[in-house]
Amino acid sequence: MAFTIFFATSTGKTEDVADRLKELLPGTEAKDVDSIGGVDDLTSAEALICCVPTWNTGADEARSGTAWDDLVQEIPDQDFAGKPVAILGLGDSSGYSDFFCDAMEELHSAFVSAGAKVIGKTATDGYTYDDSKSVIDGKFCGLPLDEDNESELTDQRLNAWITQIQSEA
Ligand SMILES: Cc1cc2nc3c(=O)[nH]c(=O)nc-3n(C[C@H](O)[C@H](O)[C@H](O)COP(=O)(O)O)c2cc1C
Repeated sequence: MAFTIFFATSTGKTEDVADRLKELLPGTEAKDVDSIGGVDDLTSAEALICCVPTWNTGADEARSGTAWDDLVQEIPDQDFAGKPVAILGLGDSSGYSDFFCDAMEELHSAFVSAGAKVIGKTATDGYTYDDSKSVIDGKFCGLPLDEDNESELTDQRLNAWITQIQSEA
């Protein structure tokens, strides 16, 4: 299954993680959703890894504060039936502990509406935060990463997650 990585960023951290993912998945492309042609680029991928930071603290909608906010409106009307979609979020579990990686859930909800097969859900073990909209039925709906406080854990989290999504896709 060929993954395409889609990311958006404000200060570069999500782009850096997308680049590291690309290195770990040889042959994979990483595309900034701010410069793709539109939602068709997402639907034409065989399998997706969507990397999203959270900036709009506490918001119900447009939680990312990046180009994902427009795309997320369009995704539910597309046909992603059975297509594997993995979601990765960047956030700050200390400074924004009540809203940790909230934007992941907004993407999750949009892709579920579009019929996608969401893969790569992860246990909350090992994370310290107060609340997150991205915890569904006791699990994160993707992989949260905290480059602000726990960057030393990112490589091991990424490696374990890649093994997981490759087996689930
Ligand atoms: C003003 C501001 C608001 C933020 N709001 C949140 C938030 O609600 N939840 C969260 O987990 N992280 C929040 N963050 C942390 C960012 O998501 C985090 O630094 C992320 O790595 C940024 O990714 P980027 O460099 O790709 O834009 C916020 C950061 C700032 C400066």
